[in-house]
Amino acid sequence: MLSSKLLISSVAVLALLGFSSAVLGSVAPQSPSKLGTSMEEIGAAVKSIQATLKTPAEISKALPEVWKAQRAVLDAKSELPKLVTDLTDEKAKAKAGLEYRTQMQDLMRAFLDVESAVLAGDAKKAEKALRAADNLKSGGHGKFRPQ
Ligand code: HEM
Repeated sequence: MLSSKLLISSVAVLALLGFSSAVLGSVAPQSPSKLGTSMEEIGAAVKSIQATLKTPAEISKALPEVWKAQRAVLDAKSELPKLVTDLTDEKAKAKAGLEYRTQMQDLMRAFLDVESAVLAGDAKKAEKALRAADNLKSGGHGKFRPQ
């Protein structure tokens, strides 16, 4: 009698554990991919650069943030989006990978333009180059970021 009660309560405990881990698993936030983390870093650096450019006299303070953005682009460039790696057709995968990396090169060029403008103390030009980076973001996300 005692052992059957014990058995029933053990089964109940196990069922509860299984249920709660299933529920927690479904609501727990997924950890970001390596690419997602680099993207977050680019986004944070862009925000800091934009804030610094609001005070043109302090434009040189943007420089370390521009380098942060460039380092994060370099990291993102060595990754591939899941939408690319999931492709099963090897030819299509190679084509999409090349397109992704070409766009990341364009993004790096935009941040090099931001750097040149910051070094020259030209806030207007830096803002223009940042807008170019933002346009690349829209295009890149439209094509490669899961919706
Ligand atoms: C200034 C330029 C850019 C900024 C600030 C930026 C920012 C971000 C941020 C904050 C995320 C993560 C959050 C989210 O998914 O909404 C993200 C994800 C992503 N971005 Fe960008 N991005 C930029 C340019 C690009 C470009 C040019 C491409 C493609 C060529 C690209 C491809 C992706 C992909 C594939 C993801 C999903 C990554 C993943 O979760 O695995 N991004 N980006």
